[in-house]
Amino acid sequence: MDINNLIRQEIRRQDGYYAGAVSCRIKLDANENPFTLSPSLKDALFEAMKGVSFNRYPDPGSPVIRERFARYYGVQPDMVMIGNGSDELIQILCTVLMDEKSTVMVPVPTFVMYRIIAMNAGRVVVEAPLETPDFDLDVGAMLDRIGSAAPALVFISYPNSPTGNCFNEKKIETVIAHSKGIVVIDEAYGNFSGKTLLPLLEKYDNLVVLKTLSKVGLAAMRVGFLIGRASFVRELDKVRLPYNINSLSQIAAAFYLDHQTFFMDQVAEVVRRRHDLCEALKRVKGIHPYPTEANFILFQCDVDSDVIHRKLIESGILIKNLNSSGVLKNCMRVTVGNQEENEAFLQALKNAAGG
Ligand SMILES: Cc1ncc(COP(=O)(O)O)c(C=O)c1O
Repeated sequence: MDINNLIRQEIRRQDGYYAGAVSCRIKLDANENPFTLSPSLKDALFEAMKGVSFNRYPDPGSPVIRERFARYYGVQPDMVMIGNGSDELIQILCTVLMDEKSTVMVPVPTFVMYRIIAMNAGRVVVEAPLETPDFDLDVGAMLDRIGSAAPALVFISYPNSPTGNCFNEKKIETVIAHSKGIVVIDEAYGNFSGKTLLPLLEKYDNLVVLKTLSKVGLAAMRVGFLIGRASFVRELDKVRLPYNINSLSQIAAAFYLDHQTFFMDQVAEVVRRRHDLCEALKRVKGIHPYPTEANFILFQCDVDSDVIHRKLIESGILIKNLNSSGVLKNCMRVTVGNQEENEAFLQALKNAAGG
């Protein structure tokens, strides 16, 4: 008996998402914050964690941080659900849909986990290509899919990964207004754009907003937020595993709110370095960066990006190679690093690209 035969075909057919398969001295592939905690803040966090009763389960539903983050985002606590990273919240959204025929619409290119999670949940994924060359939403294509496939769930990353841009707000509103399903605005990179569509929650019943602490310095803690209508959040909450946020992560999330100035100063520093890195990239021969409002930069190479990627790895630098046929041909994405990382990356890129 081959027990693998018991696994659904769509899972057996896919490769899965293997993060961090290659390790390098300089890691600029996962859009993390390049700055860690200061030694004194690290001590303060560890001190707070010492109080944890390690023999006890965490607070189910993370009520304390749920309340505090609700205030932080300016919404009611019953509108917030906390996930083990926003990945878990995306998974819960895909799980609760009506039936296996429910479709999920994603613009392409976008965050690949929408597609993978939706497929693993047994959903049919419908793609709507972005406009070229500026990667804005193609509203015509999206309305066309809404008409033909009636997606139960639509994912919109704002800013979008890997392209880095924020889609036009009016276009997003048109999609929300015409959608017969739930529209998820994923603001994983919202701190770097300084923009949010949270106020639209008052206008549209079918809107859900996602946030995360992963891009602002606490990726290791795995804390994400879903904000939406209270009645909808109540239903989603039935699917959440009771102890999804461990006690240490709950403490770290509260710590984030207690030290907002520290974390927001780091965001401002990343935004400054993003500008410098983008300008420097424009000066590298054969490299063409796209405008960005996130903590990473998409760029296109005149030569084969597989070759450049390999040479960068040989220099100890890991970025994301997105090379594929279509709009991301010879494209790569680099996370904005600290000064030393950015300089090392630029030098290695110049060497690799011959510029
Ligand atoms: C657009 C987008 N949404 C969500 C996530 C997942 O974030 P988390 O670490 O909170 O699961 C990522 C991670 O890279 C992302 O790029």
